[in-house]
Amino acid sequence: HAEADTDFILSQNQKWARQIVKKWQFTKDTTHETKPIVVAGKEIVTGRKVYKALDKSQLKDEVLAGKFAMANEDDLKRAVETAKADVDGWRAKTYEQRHAILKQAAIKVRERRGDLIGIAAAEVGKVFTETDVEVSEAVDFIEFYSHSSRYFEKYTNLQFKGKGVGVVIPPWNFPVAIPLGGVAATLAAGNTVIIKPATVAALTAYEMCKCFWDAGISKNVLQFVPCPGVLAGEHLVANEDVDYVILTGGEDTAASMLETRPNLFLTAETGGKDATIVTNMADRDQAIKNICQSAFGNSGQKCSATSLLVLEEEVYNDESFKKALVDAAKSMSVGSVWNLKNRIGTLANSVSGKLKEAIENLEEGEEWALAPSFAQDNEYMLKPSIKWNVKEGSFIHMNELFGPVLAVMKARNLKHAVDIVNATGYGLTSGIESLDEREVNYWKEHIKAGNLYVNRGTTGAIVLRQPFGGMGKSAIGAGRKVGIYNYITQFVDFEEVAKPE
Ligand code: SER
Repeated sequence: HAEADTDFILSQNQKWARQIVKKWQFTKDTTHETKPIVVAGKEIVTGRKVYKALDKSQLKDEVLAGKFAMANEDDLKRAVETAKADVDGWRAKTYEQRHAILKQAAIKVRERRGDLIGIAAAEVGKVFTETDVEVSEAVDFIEFYSHSSRYFEKYTNLQFKGKGVGVVIPPWNFPVAIPLGGVAATLAAGNTVIIKPATVAALTAYEMCKCFWDAGISKNVLQFVPCPGVLAGEHLVANEDVDYVILTGGEDTAASMLETRPNLFLTAETGGKDATIVTNMADRDQAIKNICQSAFGNSGQKCSATSLLVLEEEVYNDESFKKALVDAAKSMSVGSVWNLKNRIGTLANSVSGKLKEAIENLEEGEEWALAPSFAQDNEYMLKPSIKWNVKEGSFIHMNELFGPVLAVMKARNLKHAVDIVNATGYGLTSGIESLDEREVNYWKEHIKAGNLYVNRGTTGAIVLRQPFGGMGKSAIGAGRKVGIYNYITQFVDFEEVAKPE
């Protein structure tokens, strides 16, 4: 069964949330120890470049979220040598031995829910409720991957051996669950693991790794090496002693990895331009609720976020629908992550690139139903915005933005709506709002996406119930789905063991 999220309506949980604020909000510069890199069993700080992470909701006071050391070229080489040598014999352990330790790691993650929420708030500006569901997902990942490795050993004639050395390169937008999922799968499959966290989310990744170290995984088996992407490309990805890489990131990164090393075993989830279609047969109020959470939750910084809204003509022309949608989006307050009333915190990075282009430009015919603006003059506090009358083939139709900007398009009918969605070339998540089974069936048959959601938001997949992963431009390399039995089989070699008849 899935781990339960915290019910923040309950007064004891609100009290607990206020304690998290108290502990994590004003951890000023002086109180911070620099978090070490962890290589070859050792924590190393000295002689390394130090990265200072700012708390973006407290910019005026220049409050630090924390500091951490960055790995250099020699550290990365040594990490791979250590992982390959497997000095502590992790790969020789039985399933039962590994399971016992991983179970402890799940307990640590559960116990440290509050600290993981606090550090993710400080470092990436994620509101408590959003990190809370990640912690549940993280617990599910550990327990499920550990269980699924047992399934293969116990119920088949197959014995499996870890491939060797796994490298995990996660994104910053799910700073707990995604890094942890890669680490847990790699360890459960009997491999050693090196994690190169996203620089803007390294402190949270460190806190997550601590759960494994404190559970008894050694610092040789799980190594932690924050470093610039270029360095990771040259000294981890390109190193032939690395047996596979689990990436969640951009298509460009995945492509450049395969260019650097064509024989690389890569499993990469590479984003989406996810849509929700609302037909004439939808419950429109329910649709608005689902759309707002999927489009603007965590400022739209989710590969699974609804960033295209395709409305059947009658819904598109319904002024009361438009007004209710805009009002609902406006009601999602943006501001400091330490004020628990805010639904949306700060962006992890200041507005740039495609997001900047989308909020600064209107193409022909486009208009703002809700124009973009910033809260408290803070460039990280971008409020939800809604672009209306978006045309097929336009910039915002075809490009992933990773921000709280919803593009609304009109479709003549359901078939046209599906064509509009499929034209993006991505295929991660997709939603439909319709109470008509025939419409839903047509949509399921023709839409190209890995995760299909009917009358539900497009974010927040649950382990095993909604194995997560896409197709098209959303998935590169070998892997397709996380949170399903065969996920870990990518990281092992099987041997058939003939048992006596
Ligand atoms: N699994 C997340 C979701 O479903 C995305 O990584 O939203």
